[in-house]
Amino acid sequence: MQRLFATLLGWVCLCIVSAAGLVPGKAFERFITIWLENQDYAKVAADPSIADLKRQGILLTRYYAHTHPSQPNYIAAVGGDYFGLNHDDFVRIPENVATVADLLEFKDVTWAGYFEDVPGPGYMGNFSDGSTGNGAWDYVRKHNPFVSYDSITANGERLLNLGSFDDFRRAFAAKKVPQFVFMSPNMMNDGHNTTLDFATKWSHEFLQPLLAEKAFKERTLIALTYDESETYSEPNHIVTLLLGSAIPRSLRGTQDNTFYTHYSILSTVEANWGLHNLGRYDVGANVFQFVADLAGYTQNKDPENALAVNNSVSYPGMLNDDPSRRLPIPAPNTKLIGAGGLPVLPSIEAAWSGVRKVQTPYDGSGRVCDGDRNPPIYNAPAANPP
Ligand SMILES: *[C@@H]1O[C@H](CO)[C@@H](O)[C@H](O)[C@H]1NC(C)=O
Ligand SMILES: *[C@@H]1O[C@H](CO)[C@@H](O)[C@H](O)[C@H]1NC(C)=O
Ligand SMILES: *[C@@H]1O[C@H](CO)[C@@H](O)[C@H](O)[C@H]1NC(C)=O
Repeated sequence: MQRLFATLLGWVCLCIVSAAGLVPGKAFERFITIWLENQDYAKVAADPSIADLKRQGILLTRYYAHTHPSQPNYIAAVGGDYFGLNHDDFVRIPENVATVADLLEFKDVTWAGYFEDVPGPGYMGNFSDGSTGNGAWDYVRKHNPFVSYDSITANGERLLNLGSFDDFRRAFAAKKVPQFVFMSPNMMNDGHNTTLDFATKWSHEFLQPLLAEKAFKERTLIALTYDESETYSEPNHIVTLLLGSAIPRSLRGTQDNTFYTHYSILSTVEANWGLHNLGRYDVGANVFQFVADLAGYTQNKDPENALAVNNSVSYPGMLNDDPSRRLPIPAPNTKLIGAGGLPVLPSIEAAWSGVRKVQTPYDGSGRVCDGDRNPPIYNAPAANPP
């Protein structure tokens, strides 16, 4: 009965939009995530350029990337799985795989991706030279997760949401920054081709105007994160720092020791705006604790296998470059209720209705998977564990 009610609610979008055209959230009206590259937690946490940012925000001390190298981590953050990906080369994900864009659009929450030195909106090439003057790759497709999803590229309006840092600057000056924003600096500023220090200094400078007192009228949460760690032989432990006007004053300069992964980006925005879910690993991922508290979400816990996971090696899947480790894209589990309190997005349910009874690895438990001793476990679709 509860599920039926949730389904009905899902179909009737009770969207409330504020005077400024923004959908109010439980903890923030805007979310901006900025992605840096390849550093271990211990080094970043001790970096002096991060020190004063730490005083203004919440340091997440147990945030882990999914695997190596970069690209699967980006792909995971918007789609709720990395589909076995274990490399940085060109990939395409079929159109029946939804992303966070579907969840946001259903509730009229605006979104954009901004990628430094992308030559034009919706650019689908593998790389491009830009502002460094090196005549080298500045923009790279592997750091732009949206463009690998056919559900984005088959839709001209969505493609237009993938702009450059200049587009971001214009939107910021005009006070028109969308409500969900994903940003990747170029290969120099994100630290990929430079140093830890170069990227933290860049971040510090880039963030100052965004953290200024009246930068945004609405509560804004900024998640500065790394895609993955540098040292493959160690657990994939990275720094993520929560910043911005949405951070309650009493929590500035504190730490949060909850276990997180990039899927927590999805579960957190779902909880904040009461979104549907993707029916993938977004369901069961811990919600950033202060958001969970404001949203009344009480399911945060350590994954049962948190200590045993080897987040340096990808499990099998469609995008694996080893033919013996290829598997079809798993069907979403349409029986799950996500952190937004709602079932799978109706359009996902419809797109996958033909395979509704097929086994699925997504069980809503928050268990973490790897290509070592914790492969995804396929079962008949069932509701979330209690
Ligand atoms: C991107 O790389 C892939 C694989 O290497 C290649 O097939 C494709 O043609 C490239 N795309 C462009 C626009 O160069
Ligand atoms: C960054 O490094 C890659 C090799 O990893 C190289 O191909 C590329 O040209 C470099 N880009 C810049 C902007 O230096
Ligand atoms: C993780 O898996 C890789 C590749 O199989 C292996 O080399 C490494 O030792 C494993 N790490 C741990 C902590 O088990």
